[in-house]
Amino acid sequence: TKDPLVIFTPSGKRGRFPVGTPVLTAARQLGVDLDSVCGGRGICSKCQVTPSYGEFPKHGVHVEADALSDWNSVEERYDQKRGLPKGRRLGCQALIQRDVVIDVPAESQVHKQVVRKRAEVRDIVLNPAVKLFYVEVTEPDMHDPSGDLERLEIALKKEWGINGLQVDIHLLPELQGTLRKGNWAVTAAIHQVGDSAPHLLRLWPGLYEGSIFGIATDLGSTTIASHLCDLQTGEVIASSGTMNPQIRYGEDLMSRVSYAMMNEGGAQEMTHAVREGMNSLFDELAQEAGIDKAAILDSVFVMNPVMHHLFLGIDPYELGQAPFALATSSALALRTSDLGLNLHPSTRAYILPCIAGHVGADAAAVTLSEAPDKSEDLVLVVDVGTNAEIQLGNRDRLLACSSPTGPAFEGAQISAGQRAAPGAIERVEIDPETKEPRFRVIGSDLWSDEDGFEAAIATTGITGICGSGIIEAIAEMRMAGIVDASGLIGSAEQVGSTRCIPDGRTQAYILWEGRDDSPQITVTNPDIRAIQMAKAALYAGARLLMDKLDTDQVDRVVLAGAFGAHISPKHAMVLGMIPDCPLEKVTSAGNAAGTGARIALLNTTTRAEIEATVKRIEKVETAIEPRFQEHFVNASALPNAAEPFTLLRE
Ligand code: FES
Repeated sequence: TKDPLVIFTPSGKRGRFPVGTPVLTAARQLGVDLDSVCGGRGICSKCQVTPSYGEFPKHGVHVEADALSDWNSVEERYDQKRGLPKGRRLGCQALIQRDVVIDVPAESQVHKQVVRKRAEVRDIVLNPAVKLFYVEVTEPDMHDPSGDLERLEIALKKEWGINGLQVDIHLLPELQGTLRKGNWAVTAAIHQVGDSAPHLLRLWPGLYEGSIFGIATDLGSTTIASHLCDLQTGEVIASSGTMNPQIRYGEDLMSRVSYAMMNEGGAQEMTHAVREGMNSLFDELAQEAGIDKAAILDSVFVMNPVMHHLFLGIDPYELGQAPFALATSSALALRTSDLGLNLHPSTRAYILPCIAGHVGADAAAVTLSEAPDKSEDLVLVVDVGTNAEIQLGNRDRLLACSSPTGPAFEGAQISAGQRAAPGAIERVEIDPETKEPRFRVIGSDLWSDEDGFEAAIATTGITGICGSGIIEAIAEMRMAGIVDASGLIGSAEQVGSTRCIPDGRTQAYILWEGRDDSPQITVTNPDIRAIQMAKAALYAGARLLMDKLDTDQVDRVVLAGAFGAHISPKHAMVLGMIPDCPLEKVTSAGNAAGTGARIALLNTTTRAEIEATVKRIEKVETAIEPRFQEHFVNASALPNAAEPFTLLRE
């Protein structure tokens, strides 16, 4: 008679195994993804499976209820102590008796899928750099003297195939105590990426049943945003952001570069400030999640080139002038202690590669998240911050450039502009007939003409207008005929609205009349000018890349960044910020750079992938392209002079 047939779902992998083979052994031999931390000792319960019965698609294998042998004492003990969910068996203990179909539930897979919110982008496959391994180590023997570390190495090699273990010196003083405390059983946290040497990061006595964590950080010039993730489940367990403390040295990147140039020790000061800010953010995250900070063992960072240099303690001087040479553009694998961060001394840090002197590791993270390099369609990805980082391409070719939009899109250089914070006008509509506006402010769900609006904004007030608000206001003003194509606001007579008032030699439009406690908010002609410059720079950058690919049309547009998450595609298009494209093909990716950082944290395979992709991205330098100037001039009109514009005509 033949050996029993074993079929694993959902993989469909199958094979015949002698009666009495443990399920875990069968899974390993077939390459089925079944987790195990304790190496089959029946103590970690990571190997849980569900023997399932009935028809297996296509082959109709006959299976019986007792196809796996009865509970053995190890499983029983586990069940009594900790409780196994109904129908679950420990894969390392259950032995094959007859033909069987065995389901490996998602949580028992090593390479679990971490589901992301948006369906159109790929899920994250869990393959973290740090994993836990439980081993039993031989006790020392006078007749065969060897070190405790050497016996630990032998155990890890024998049970887990870990070769050439590297150990940080700071772990040695605690090694002997931990081994004895665990009665010669320990759990090791080991860091390994690809074929690199495995590093021991931490050691716990016995079976460590806690979790290990990683932090993914998007270091922006304005805010630092971090996600704390469980490295064993891929879950985000806490997210938090803080203002980049470097703001006190200058709002935008160039003012920080000049601060470093003008002040002796200025770069170091800023390095110190950002590291301190990050340290308190990490403390806050650990506290919020209620975890031990020392269990954070891996981290990933993405940022623009100036932030990159300042974080690493490199003077950004060269980035302030042509040819914008980076000290290094490669991905960096470091320890967080190299970066002045107060995490466990073994904690690792990975910094994504930079694409070019103006297109940083944050753009590489956006590439990882939005995967234009895997797209069949020609996709334009725009990450708008103080600079716009623009990528255009598909699976055949990918181009990237940065365009100097300046901070107008973030509410700077705007008369009533402010950062996106409670009290800021963020949405605007203007009636094309009456020219009367209605708006919403951050912190309230009500429109200004709805009942209860005044009460809803009682605490925040109306303090100004943020980036998305100014875009919408100007686009709505254009559609209502308050502003002409050149960007000039009409007079009260021309427009037919008393909301248009003289403002120096030009006109302004009153968005909010103001109250005793909140000032009047107007959109002025210089405001429109600032947005025109910014959007022309953005458009010209995109157009330049389109020229390089010899195309007039993109299939899709992805707006990334916090700004992209708030701006309405319709208004962006009315202003001519982005090339003409069907509205339903314009999507917002949210904080794609942060998502990219999280992908690199949870799946180390993607680190090698993005390093290779960045090498093949074609970098375009807008500053030396004569066509950029040409496009810029054409693009300053609303929407712009060169392109037909469908939305406005409708
Ligand atoms: Fe740890 Fe089965 S592998 S309990």
